[in-house]
Parts: sequence; C-alpha cells; structure tokens
Amino acid sequence: MFENAFVLFVPSVVKLKGKEEAMTILKDRKILLGVTGGIAAYKALELTRLLALAEARVRVIMTQSAMEFVQPLSFQVLSGQPVCTHLFDLEAESRIGHIQVATDAEVAVIAPATANIIGKLAHGIADDYLTTALLVCTAPKIICPAMNVNMYESQVVQENLARLRGWGFHQVGPEAGDLACGVRGLGRLAPVDDILECIQQALTPQSLQGKRVLVTAGPTKESLDPVRHLTNPSSGKMGYALARAAKWRGAEVTLVSGPCSLAPPHRVSLIRVTSAQEMYEAVVDQFAQTDAVVMAAAVSDYRPKKKAPEKIKKIKVSESLQLEKTEDILLRLGELKQRQILVGFAAETENLLENAKVKLRQKNLDFIVANDLTAANTGFESDTNEVTIVWPGDEVENLSQKSKEAIAMEIWDRVERLWQKQKHVDS
Ligand code: CTP
Repeated sequence: MFENAFVLFVPSVVKLKGKEEAMTILKDRKILLGVTGGIAAYKALELTRLLALAEARVRVIMTQSAMEFVQPLSFQVLSGQPVCTHLFDLEAESRIGHIQVATDAEVAVIAPATANIIGKLAHGIADDYLTTALLVCTAPKIICPAMNVNMYESQVVQENLARLRGWGFHQVGPEAGDLACGVRGLGRLAPVDDILECIQQALTPQSLQGKRVLVTAGPTKESLDPVRHLTNPSSGKMGYALARAAKWRGAEVTLVSGPCSLAPPHRVSLIRVTSAQEMYEAVVDQFAQTDAVVMAAAVSDYRPKKKAPEKIKKIKVSESLQLEKTEDILLRLGELKQRQILVGFAAETENLLENAKVKLRQKNLDFIVANDLTAANTGFESDTNEVTIVWPGDEVENLSQKSKEAIAMEIWDRVERLWQKQKHVDS
C-alpha cells in the first residue's frame, strides 16, 4: 500500500532545516497523514512536502470537508502516493485498502484536526475513510488541533482532547495568534517544524524514557560595560542537537542555554542564561534531580572584575580591563557527583588528546568529547562535527565527520551504555 505509485523527484542532497539526522529517521518510514476540513489544511501540504523531501512514505487521507479547502491532487503530487478519500472506492477497496493503509503506518498524524474529528475519535465514531482507518491503526497518533478559539476552549473539545491524550494521543498545538475567523487567540495549527519534531520523536525508540538529562549550550556573555561584553563564537548547535536527540529518545530534557538564535527543540524545558555565573547557578540547582549532564556550552573562563555603569571611554580602557575567573561548572559537578553521568567537551586548538585527558580526570567525567577547533567543518558554527571520545583509562574513539544531530545520537548511545553497566553492577 505504501509502494510508490509515481516517480517522485527527490533532490540528491536534501536539506531539512540542516537536520540530516531528521532525514535519517524519517527515511522510508510510513506515515499516515489525516487532513480534515479547516483553513489550515493548506499547511498540511508543506508538511507533506517536507516529509517527502526526507524520503518518508506518506499516505494522505482527506475527509470530504478537507477537499473543500485543498485538492487531493496537490497531496498526491507532493507525496507521490495516491490520496485516500472514499471508503467505498471500488478499485482501492478491492484489497480493503483502508485497513492496509492503517496497519502499515508507523505513525499517524491528524493535521489540521477539527473539533469534528476530535469528537469522533473521542467517541469511536467511524463513518468515513479517516475515522475508520484511525480506529484500525495501532501506531502512535499525533493530533494537531486548529479551529476557532471559542471552539477550542469549549468544554466539550477540551474534554475530548483530554480523553484522546489519556489514550496516548500526542497533542501538538494549537498556538495563539490571528485566526482565519478574524479573532486572535488559541487555535492556529502548530508550526510545521513542531509537528515534524513530534513525528520524529514518535518514530525514535524511547530508550531514554524515565531519564532526566540536562544539556548546556551556546556561549556565555560577560558584561564589561552597558555596550560591551566578553564572549565566543559558539552557535549552540551541538548543545541544541544533544537536547533534541535526548527528547526524541524520550528523556525529560532541561536545556540551559547561553545567548544564541536557535529555536529550542519542542517540549524541552529551556532555561535561558547570559553569564557563566547564571549558568553555574541554573545547572547546580538542577543537578540533584538529574541523571546525566552533558556540558556542550562554551563557558567563559574569565569575566570583568567589575561591570562599569557607563560606557568605558577609550582613554580608560587599560585600567578598566581587570578580569577574574568564573566558576568552573563541570569541575563543581564532578565534586557533587553521586550517580550522575557527566560528559564534558574539550575545545582545543593544540594537543587535543593530552588536554582532553587532563580535563577528563580533573573534572571527574565519565567521558569527554574532544573537539579540534582547527579542523574544517567542525566546532563552533558548523552544522557538522568530527570528534574524539576519550574514556577514563585513555581509551579513545573517533567519530568521523557527520551532522551534529548524528554526533548527538552517538553521545547518547554511550551514556545509555554507561547506565546499562550501572544497572548490571547494581543487580
Ligand atoms: N566548562 C565549565 N565551566 C567553565 C569552563 C568550562 O563547565 N567555567 C566546561 C565546558 O562546558 C566543557 C569543559 O568544561 O564541557 C571543558 O571546557 P574547555 O573550555 O574546553 O576547557 P577549560 O576547562 O575551560 O580549560 P581551557 O580553557 O584552559 O582549555
């Protein structure tokens, strides 16, 4: 049923918001996309396009009212697969197509989901292709409501959604904003990126479920005066990739982020900080409730002794530039450590392994990820990375150049192995 009915043009190098790992997870995965009749139905076209770009196998089911808003042909062209619309289609149903579409799916997404489909699903009504297929489908289901704010906030819709969530449906959105009906409020379809993120999570084995992890990311900024600060070019990409990967694997994730412009991963609890001191306080405060910490942040080692209240005049710069050390967060965590797994990064321009080994020991880490800042396509602002993992006992592992998301997945693989070892020792 998910066989390609059309030859679909897929560019050989697909860029899905720079997330190559996303592409790997979605590639060849069978996704059932239910589109119901709301103005946001046109946004499901973009979702279909991105899923197809990532080489997912998307089967779209449209309700009759969805077809009043968007033509099935548009979904058919974008997905490269026939669109299911009529339960009693003589040809498609000669092999009981709706059962097969539903049982083949690895995840089902309803976007947009109207109050009507939410009501029907919450009460077991199966009177068209989509409702029938969803009753058959046992895969994880993601519901993305989009409707008028009063409708969304009505008791009946809220109760129906609570019922669906109670049965294991994941809900994404809606978000607040201008609605098609001319009012402002909760009711806009969640951003397509958020829906994609939830799909990827649903398709990832939940191997970190029950674990609480904390990741730090980005640079810190240490103020010198109201208009100047000490900082570094860290983009935060490695730390955000680590937080996203842990979330996809089912962990409860806290991301302590220095100033950067990246959108935080969906459903991660984000603590924004500016200075090394703020990062220190946020991380130490969370540490006791955390099972693993990965410090990917590029924390400033020094800060100005005093922040000048006014802009420092050039004539006075030399006497004003006195620095003092910041707290070494990871060193402190190494002292506080009980059963937590502690992972550090070593950002180096020389003597990579020697320096990494010293930091591993000094900070009492379980392993350290050594990053050669002089290599091409690695480090601070790059989308890719190439690292060496150094273990106590000086064993080293090279992870060849790949996306930061792929490196993040490999780092969590190793953290998971350490937990398995801990469990083995305990039993
Ligand atoms: N780190 C930290 N607190 C600091 C400085 C660094 O927690 N004040 C963490 C980083 O997040 C990283 C690890 O320690 O995980 C190593 O950071 P790095 O900058 O490579 O080394 P430093 O320990 O700062 O030593 P140096 O600057 O001399 O290389």
